Amino acid sequence: MTVAVFYTSLSGNTREAAEIVAGAIGGTPVDIVQDAAEREALLDELRAGRLAMALFGTYTWGDGELPEAMRRFLRRLLIEEGHLYLPAMPPTAVFGTGDSIFPRYCRAADAVYYHLEKHGVRLVLPVMKIEQSPYGLDQAPRLEAWAEAAQAAAGAGRPTARALRRSAAAPLLTRNKPRG
Ligand SMILES: Cc1cc2nc3c(=O)[nH]c(=O)nc-3n(C[C@H](O)[C@H](O)[C@H](O)COP(=O)(O)O)c2cc1C
Repeated sequence: MTVAVFYTSLSGNTREAAEIVAGAIGGTPVDIVQDAAEREALLDELRAGRLAMALFGTYTWGDGELPEAMRRFLRRLLIEEGHLYLPAMPPTAVFGTGDSIFPRYCRAADAVYYHLEKHGVRLVLPVMKIEQSPYGLDQAPRLEAWAEAAQAAAGAGRPTARALRRSAAAPLLTRNKPRG
């Protein structure tokens, strides 16, 4: 089963984030504006119920605005062609890049989450917000861990080799610690 990472990016930060997310969980990153053929191929998979998970990534524009490309994409998936996509929508998670100098930090990612949730899509984790490039401020490991947690919460696919190495390295006591 495929994991789709649908994103839009102007200056590359969200593309970097999408590539990190996809790399961590064996997903396919697709720029919804630039990669039209890949986008349509993944939408075919989605309609056929063959996506294990879908992730959405966006930057924020204007004064906290959702970029037009992501707005149109969501409108198509959730409203115009919602009868095709909504019944097959897999577990989902949302990430965004922004700049905390703006008062509405990463607001577009919150908007994506809001629209998906409003249409009954199952969101497995809170929005992941990244300050500009994920390679700055040592954010990449946090983003990878979020993607792995989202995949685990979605019950999507097999763990990656990296996740298996990680859990094998964890001390037994930590792994088997009883709850409560
Ligand atoms: C004109 C303009 C308006 C922006 N407005 C916001 C905003 O309201 N909130 C925010 O968090 N970031 C805002 N940003 C920052 C971008 O979202 C941020 O740089 C993002 O990482 C860009 O992603 P990209 O490189 O994928 O295009 C703005 C940037 C520009 C150039």
